Order: sequence, then structure tokens, then C-alpha cells
Amino acid sequence: MEAATEFVVESPDVVYSPEAIEAQYEYRTTCVSREGGVLKVHPTSTRFTFRTARQVPRLGVMLVGWGGNNGSTLTAAVLANRLRLSWPTRTGRKEANYYGSLTQAGTVSLGLDAEGQEVFVPFSSLLPMVAPDDLVFDGWDISSLNLAEAMRRAQVLDWGLQEQLWPHMEALRPRPSVYIPEFIAANQSARADNVIPGTRAQQLEQIRRDIRDFRSSARLDKVIVLWTANTERFCEVVPGLNDTAENLLHTIQLGLEVSPSTLFAVASILEGCAFLNGSPQNTLVPGALELAWQRRVFVGGDDFKSGQTKVKSVLVDFLIGSGLKTMSIVSYNHLGNNDGQNLSAPPQFRSKEVSKSSVVDDMVHSNPVLYSPGEEPNHCVVIKYVPYVGDSKRALDEYTSELMLGGTNTLVLHNTCEDSLLAAPIMLDLALLTELCQRVSFCTDIDPEPQSFHPVLSLLGFLFKAPLAPPGSPVVNALFRQRSCIENILRACVGLPPQNHMLLEHKME
Ligand code: NAI
Repeated sequence: MEAATEFVVESPDVVYSPEAIEAQYEYRTTCVSREGGVLKVHPTSTRFTFRTARQVPRLGVMLVGWGGNNGSTLTAAVLANRLRLSWPTRTGRKEANYYGSLTQAGTVSLGLDAEGQEVFVPFSSLLPMVAPDDLVFDGWDISSLNLAEAMRRAQVLDWGLQEQLWPHMEALRPRPSVYIPEFIAANQSARADNVIPGTRAQQLEQIRRDIRDFRSSARLDKVIVLWTANTERFCEVVPGLNDTAENLLHTIQLGLEVSPSTLFAVASILEGCAFLNGSPQNTLVPGALELAWQRRVFVGGDDFKSGQTKVKSVLVDFLIGSGLKTMSIVSYNHLGNNDGQNLSAPPQFRSKEVSKSSVVDDMVHSNPVLYSPGEEPNHCVVIKYVPYVGDSKRALDEYTSELMLGGTNTLVLHNTCEDSLLAAPIMLDLALLTELCQRVSFCTDIDPEPQSFHPVLSLLGFLFKAPLAPPGSPVVNALFRQRSCIENILRACVGLPPQNHMLLEHKME
């Protein structure tokens, strides 16, 4: 039976008009103060009015690194779904789907029915969202292969699917991109046959022209830019160079050090397009963040949270949340795709190591019963390039935790999966959720001026390994806290209370 997807909230606090859904919402939280060694907790309540525009735009997504494994796989996935493709494999016929996408394959509970059973709907039906099949793709790559050839190079999809997609992908060609050799591994140089010539300022202008060209030629209402190109080395944050928006723009004009990814971020922001960073490097340097703030354009990052780190942000949350003291986390990876080859160079590996290592910080800091100030588990990350395994990434993890009375518990995990098939649905969710957030505005009883979410879109944290958050905001890595954040904010937009899982109805006589 097809799941029902449409619902209406019947409440005086929720008004549906042809243009928007408007919901009155009581945000209840607590404020804690320290007084003479005692923590005083004050429940507080703020009244919000959320307004979500219902008109879904025609959305274009520009991928930087379009011809890579992720870029070609995401494009193929959307085409395969749009065309309702199916193909034979040795284990039977497979059909296109969006497994792995929170918005397309996840569900939320609306509440209990008359029999006391929970009623679930697809996540995507919470609020009007762009349908993934309607997305229009474009992008850049330093490699000139068309998307059909790029799909073949990636070796991710079954051949029967590739054959059917070939005529649809062949006409798609990445635009030339910015290649600055010192930012990615030297082993990538052979790919770079499709580059934008000129000074940094001219390259910036070309990217901006590309965005405008795509927007008008594909008749789009909106464009979102997503970096899924190779991992770059970190860029040093230097006062006067990239610490403020003004300095960063000046640096580009002078042709001083700026990474390709930062150039793309700046171009997107100047064009009013949200920019999302799927790789670990510090693309969004303080100057880029300030520019996003000045222009009120959403930015999000860093590094897709797809496999090993996703498990880590569940498992360590479970261990520490259960009161076990995790003291050692050791993660080995080996993979054989181009990403793995790029990461075999130390500066690019370093970017990945940093983003993979920060992922348990919030869980450790949340438990001062187990960890004294400054105490942290040993955390080691190893990545090796093994060409034979291709995109089938292997992740081996060992977690050792202290039990009561001197015991220890060691968990070992072995995870094998097609890396790009994990990343592609995350890219999809990033684009769809960012676009939705652009249609949400709110005001409060304290500040009646309508506003949008903060330009650093931390609501996307579920999808990033090292989530960016507005200055001063706590960084949350624990996966189900991140999921609850998205779910509860979207519920608030239709006037539904936060999901509390209390099921008190079933705990009474
Ligand atoms: P890939 O190496 O197959 O694709 C990257 C593409 O970027 C290549 O086609 C390359 O030619 C292109 N490229 C490099 N520099 C460029 C530039 N300056 N401008 C335009 N294009 C450029 O790698 P894959 O597997 O698609 O991964 C992409 C990124 O996503 C990597 O940084 C990876 O670390 C990151 N990532 C991937 C995850 C996964 O599960 N696949 C998870 C988390 C992050």
C-alpha cells in the first residue's frame, strides 16, 4: 500500500493560504545560571511565528567537481529516478530509488491514531520541497570528460544502468574550472585539461558568468552551488589576507593566495546563491563567512557525513550516553577511487584527518561524570589508497571503552560500501533542505521584524562531518540530536510540537 503523504494540521495556530503556511509556535527551553555553586534553571518560553512560502521553485544545482564519482553518481541517480529506470543484475532486477536520502527515504511520526498506533509520513511531506526528479544539474570540473564518460570512469553503477543512462548523460559537459595545483595532490595533474585561464579576478568573474548563464539558459528560479571536488589542503587564515570580506575580495583582485574552493564560495555568495562545502578543507575562511553574512546568503559545510563518521557519531553517542567511558577510537580506511588517490598526499590527508577527528568532541564534553576537564579519548585516523577496491570503501573501526570495576569493552566494526552511493543522497538532501530554508522566515514576540535563519546554516549539521555553526553556537555532532533538530524545526513550521517520544498515552492505566 502506498503511504499517504498529504496532511493538514487543524489548529487555530496554523493558517494555510495559497502563498504560505503560517504557524504560531511556543518555543519552550531553559536558561541556566550559576549562583553560589548551585545551578539555577529557569524555564523560558518565546512565541515564534513561522512562515513558509509554498511555491516550490525551479531549482538548479551546480556541482564543482561534476565529473567526479559523487557528481556523476548524483546526476545519474536523479536521471534514473526521473526516467523510472530498472536494470538486470546477477541478483535480480533493480529499480531506481533514493535510499540513503533523509528527505526522500526517511519518515516522521505525526502522532497516534484512534488505535493508539503511530502514523508515519515521508520526511519530504512535512513541508513543500522541491522534488528531486525536477532538479536541473550543471557544474564545473578540471577534467573535460562528459558525464557519461565520467560515470564509466567512476565504476560505481551497474553496466545495465550505465547503458541506459549513456545517451542522457553524454550531452552533459562540465564547464572549465579553476585549477591551482598546490591545493590538491600532484597525482591529479593529468586530469586537469579543462581550466579557466587568467588572473584570480578574471576566474572569479568567469564563475559568476557561468552561474548567471545557467540560471538564464535553464530558466531557473534559484541556483545552489555545491563543492564536491577534490579535497584541498588547508588554507592558512592570515590577517589582512582572508580574515574579513573586504580583505578576501582585495586578495582576489591582487591575485594573492586563495583556494579554488574559496573562489567558488565567493562567486556563489556574490551571485546570491547558497554555497555548500562537501569536502573537509576550510573553504569558508572568516572573510567568506563575513561576506555571506553581509549578503545574507546561506553557506554550509564541511565534508559530507556519509559512512564511517556517521557510524562514529552514533556509536560514541550511544557509548557515552550509556555511561561507558570510551578511551580509544581507531579508524582505518582504504579506498581505491580518485578521492583516495588524492588523499594519499599528506596535506590533503591532513584536511580529512582534522574533520574526521572532531566528530566526538561534543559527546565527550557532554559528560563531565566520565571525563575530567581536558581529558579526551585517543583518536587515530588512517586512510590508505588501494586502487583495486575502487569506490568500494572499507572502513575498520575499533572502539575501546572502560566498564565498571576496571573492565574494558572493545567493539570492532567492518564496513564496506560504495562510497559515492552513500554521498549522492546526502548531496540531494543538502540542496533540498537549503532551498526549503530559503523559503522560511520567522519573527518572535520579542522581535517582530521577520528574519531568516542565520547565514551559517547549522540546521544542515546532520549531513556534515565537521558542521559549521554560527559564532558562539554549540557544535553538535551526535547524529540523532542533529536529526531531531531538522525534524523539530520543520515540525515547528507547521505548528507541531517537538517529537518527544514520551508516549505518555501508553503509560497510563
Ligand atoms: P572524485 O575525485 O571522484 O571527484 C572529484 C572531482 O573534482 C574530479 O572529477 C576532479 O577532476 C574534480 N576537481 C578537482 N579539483 C577541481 C577544481 N578545482 N574545480 C573543479 N573540479 C575539480 O572524488 P569523489 O569521490 O567524487 O569525492 C568528492 C569530494 O567529496 C572529495 O573531496 C571527498 O573527500 C568528499 N567526500 C566524499 C565522500 C563520499 O562518501 N564519497 C564523503 C565525504 C566527503
